[in-house]
Formats: sequence, C-alpha cells, structure tokens
Amino acid sequence: GLGSDMYRQQILDHYKNPRNKGEIPDPDFSHTGENPSCGDTITVNVQLKDDNETIEYVSFTGDGCAISQASASMLSEHLQGMTLEELDTLDTDDVTEMLGVDISPMRIKCAVLARQVAQDGAAIHDGEIAIEATTVE
Ligand code: FES
Ligand code: FES
Repeated sequence: GLGSDMYRQQILDHYKNPRNKGEIPDPDFSHTGENPSCGDTITVNVQLKDDNETIEYVSFTGDGCAISQASASMLSEHLQGMTLEELDTLDTDDVTEMLGVDISPMRIKCAVLARQVAQDGAAIHDGEIAIEATTVE
C-alpha cells in the first residue's frame, strides 16, 4: 500500500543519504559488530552528556545493505537524548516499527545489527559485560 511505499522511500533515502555517518572526535564509547550472514560490520560511536547516562550524539560507520544502513541511520537519530537504560530496552519490534516495514526473517539481522551494536557498546561501557565482538544472533 501507499503507507508502506512511503516507508520504503524513507529507507532508500536514509540509505542514500545516511544521517550521522562518520567518525566523531572523542566518543565515550565505540563498538563494532558483524552480521554473520554476510560479514558486513557496523561501528556505533556514542557521545554522552556530562551525566554519563544521556546520549548526546550518535554516529556510525561501516557498510552494508540498504536495510542495515537505513536502520543505523534512523537509529542514530532515534537515540539522541535517550538514556542508556532506554537504549537497553529497545527490542526487535522497536526496530521494525522505526523502519516502518515488515522485515523478512532472512533480513532481520540486517535490521537489528546497529541496535545490537549500540546496546552491547553501552553494556561494555557500563562494565556489565566484557565482550570483544558483537555478532547478531
Ligand atoms: Fe534490500 Fe539490501 S536491503 S537488498
Ligand atoms: Fe549485510 Fe544486510 S546484507 S547487513
């Protein structure tokens, strides 16, 4: 339908003109993760406010398909102003809602990669887990 065409256009727009793509000078944390089905990686860089809890700015780097890139781009906007605790609660439904289209089981790892990387990066930053690399399950 028309609604889903609009969302597809939005995904393509974020793919072609990614928001907040690139390095940031002094991130509070950066984390990289891989989609094991294709080998594409995304790095998420997060700068926190002085409270060490509220997200001031998010950027990402790395390459992948339209869904993964659009998801990272949209997430980078979505996360601004959120707390790390709020980031931690984001689930797969939140990601598909953000993308606005149904994602096939084949592509769900593409869609959730950036969110998983951001969450693992935050958990490492908070000292909750010690992992070196994220791969989406
Ligand atoms: Fe459709 Fe990559 S998102 S081919
Ligand atoms: Fe690699 Fe989607 S095909 S992230």
